[in-house]
Amino acid sequence: ARYLPLKNKSVLITAGGTKERIDPVRYISNDSSGKMGHALAEAAYLNGADVTLVTSSSLPVSSNIKRISVESAAEMYESVSSRFDSSDILIMAAAVSDYSPETTSTKKMKKQDEMTLTFKKNKDILKEMGHRKKTNQCIVGFAAETDNINEYAKKKLIEKKADLIVANDIGKDDRGFNVDKNEVTFFSTQSEPQIIPLKEKIEIAKDVIDWIIKFIN
Ligand code: PMT
Repeated sequence: ARYLPLKNKSVLITAGGTKERIDPVRYISNDSSGKMGHALAEAAYLNGADVTLVTSSSLPVSSNIKRISVESAAEMYESVSSRFDSSDILIMAAAVSDYSPETTSTKKMKKQDEMTLTFKKNKDILKEMGHRKKTNQCIVGFAAETDNINEYAKKKLIEKKADLIVANDIGKDDRGFNVDKNEVTFFSTQSEPQIIPLKEKIEIAKDVIDWIIKFIN
């Protein structure tokens, strides 16, 4: 039989950009397609893990992966928070909206000459789970940056209490959001930053899963 390093491990993964509703037909979102998170779910599954994917993307997933579809950051928070304590590994690849409209109209808003929207801050899912983490749990976060990548990624690693931050430079259009490839740098408290050169997201996902397997063993 094939050796499956993540057998009996439950892995919780988030994917996609959340949508924050303004009214029934309008929302605020971002360019995340869910490709990176869905690739991670497949890679974890291929290593024998019991995978739950909390996703706002409509991309498909293998039938052996448990899919939870969410729309907003608040829904993603609820889904992750209620499952985190029984998970061994959390990987936050979703691009969670940092803000949502203060109020959501139940009726379609009428056209006006000018409109002002006010926003409230959403909960930081990764940070909250990081602070709730038990010693036997492993947390991987992402960081999407356009500048000062090293500095911001290291800050996120410490402030969010993650074991690994996978940082991507989203300032270039052949990698990052909504494309098939990515180039990332791994930041952990244990070793020097490690650059993973530009390649398919499924290959990047395998490297992330391999990092986790080494970390937990
Ligand atoms: O989906 P794709 O099109 O494949 O694109 C992949 C990606 C670029 C979206 C992905 O690789 C990526 O970088 N995801 C994280 C994007 C992001 O929101 O980064 P951030 O630097 O704003 O957030 C840092 C970390 O905190 C992330 O793990 C994020 O999931 C988490 N977070 C952020 C805000 C919030 N309110 N709650 C969170 O948990």
